[in-house]
Amino acid sequence: MYRVGVLTLSDRGAKGEREDLSGQIIQDMVKTINCEVINYEVIPDDKSLIKEKLCQWSDGENLSLILTTGGTGLSPRDCTPDATLEVVEYEVPGIAETMRRESMKKTSRAMLSRAAAGVRGRTLIINLPGSPKGVRECLEVILETLPHGLDVLQGRVEDCVRP
Ligand code: MTE
Repeated sequence: MYRVGVLTLSDRGAKGEREDLSGQIIQDMVKTINCEVINYEVIPDDKSLIKEKLCQWSDGENLSLILTTGGTGLSPRDCTPDATLEVVEYEVPGIAETMRRESMKKTSRAMLSRAAAGVRGRTLIINLPGSPKGVRECLEVILETLPHGLDVLQGRVEDCVRP
């Protein structure tokens, strides 16, 4: 089982003014690839808070994967990718590239998500957009490949060469 954290970034959600459908969708979807959701929280779009939570979860909770939703756009409060890039040791650009490329086939607004992905320690952190539709469309194109990436990151696969 992969240990997973789901972090929803939403000022309104954190105040209890909006139901977190996107966080729920993520939880349902990751269960199909043998994940156990260990941590789940809804917090405001505050860069220091987001960084603190990402560091706590990756350093202290032994999570394989953290999926964030929300705060990837252009509004002045959107800061999830910025917080993520400040805490990861290296980026995994192909994940965000794939989500944007495939999403562009569904909506040109996909270009407005600044979502990033990267690794801190042994934890892969991936940003997803905030809308339930965006979450579903982005996660479905990376989901199948995630277990291999997580296995390599955890040192469970030493050689990926396929005959
Ligand atoms: N990606 C997909 N696949 N589907 C979507 O509907 N919505 C876009 C984009 N990415 C969308 C998407 C829109 S409208 C915005 S504004 C950006 O994600 C940023 O969203 P966020 O600020 O909620 O993270």
